[in-house]
Amino acid sequence: MIRSITFSDHLTIGHEAIDSQHQEWIEVANQLLRIDDPVEDCEAFSAALLHLIRYTRHHFATEEGLMEQWAYPRVEAQRQAHARILADLSASLDEDRSSCEVAQKIHEMLERWIIEHLLQEDLLLRDFLAQRPGDAAEA
Ligand SMILES: [Fe+2]
Repeated sequence: MIRSITFSDHLTIGHEAIDSQHQEWIEVANQLLRIDDPVEDCEAFSAALLHLIRYTRHHFATEEGLMEQWAYPRVEAQRQAHARILADLSASLDEDRSSCEVAQKIHEMLERWIIEHLLQEDLLLRDFLAQRPGDAAEA
């Protein structure tokens, strides 16, 4: 089980706002991952999960807004992927205090999303931005 994620250059997409949100997102995820015993620390775990859901929603809204502005061709696929991630996260919170008992499952979901979202999807966005002329990446 992963205990924390490290933000590094290979996760950088070259857009200041998105990169700093990714950094913050990883920090928020780490707060949850660092809770050793989610059943014992259920209150802290639920609070961390709620914080993560809120930050994720905020981050996805930012990304989708920018993607629309840039006419990014994968915006619709991204929007669907984002909605699925948020639905999964929210469902795990809705399941009452059981979210603490399924902490392992939440960790695995996070691990998968980090790979899918940051390493696959957002790096495609990096390539797209790199090919845009002029200062478009600053928009
Ligand atoms: Fe992202």
